[in-house]
Amino acid sequence: VGQNLVTIKEVDSTNTFLKNLLSNSKPLPEGTVIMAESQYAGRGQQQNKWHSEPGKNLTFSILLTPGFLPVINQFDLNRVVSLGVFDALEPYLGSKLKIKWPNDIYYDDRKLGGILIETHILSGHIKHAIIGIGLNINQESFDAGAGNAISLKQILHKDYDLRTILSEICAHIEAHYLSLKAGRFLAVREVYLSRLYWLNQQKYFRSNDQVFEGIIRNVKDEGLLVVENNNEQQEFSLKQIEFLN
Ligand code: BTN
Repeated sequence: VGQNLVTIKEVDSTNTFLKNLLSNSKPLPEGTVIMAESQYAGRGQQQNKWHSEPGKNLTFSILLTPGFLPVINQFDLNRVVSLGVFDALEPYLGSKLKIKWPNDIYYDDRKLGGILIETHILSGHIKHAIIGIGLNINQESFDAGAGNAISLKQILHKDYDLRTILSEICAHIEAHYLSLKAGRFLAVREVYLSRLYWLNQQKYFRSNDQVFEGIIRNVKDEGLLVVENNNEQQEFSLKQIEFLN
């Protein structure tokens, strides 16, 4: 991952750019990375926009071709990618670093980065996965609309070289991806769970306009979040549940 690296100054979204490249040109090598200094239409999960100050942060997309992965196991890709980002950042940030289900990167209660995975499915298997990663690195402040965003610089009061962190992330994603490819999905699932934000803690959530107190107990193989509420386990998709702070 990252051997074939293309950097662009400005683009709508690296995910969109990579998707267009795939449909217009000859096949690209697996592990190709498209990195942009700035995106003017960065996209997040659930139709959100992704804002990032030009030149300050990491915004990039990785091409994976996990033909070995059945669609029902697609969530293992989310696990592998979030673990790769986690492992790259852990030496900088230590134990306050967490993965917020399904694949946000959190430091304490603040969002350091996010992941947007878009797949192209062919006969029940994943032909292409475009792995979009946005990480706040050297940005010094965020406007109120950015919610609970935080950057590495705001935590550690230093500037970081984007290329260095990019290559660390690529190496760690590759390691977890290869372990998935080798069939070690149980290990991937177990480590992912152990890194989870709010795991086994009594917290407030909202679902269907109802606030309730619950405890995250698990993530199903296919990616649903399992929350215990009054000794009963309920499963949620991303659209169905909101974490309340
Ligand atoms: C989220 O937290 O909702 C996911 C954010 C993903 C942002 C990255 S930045 C690089 C890539 N290109 C995009 O347009 N989005 C992803």
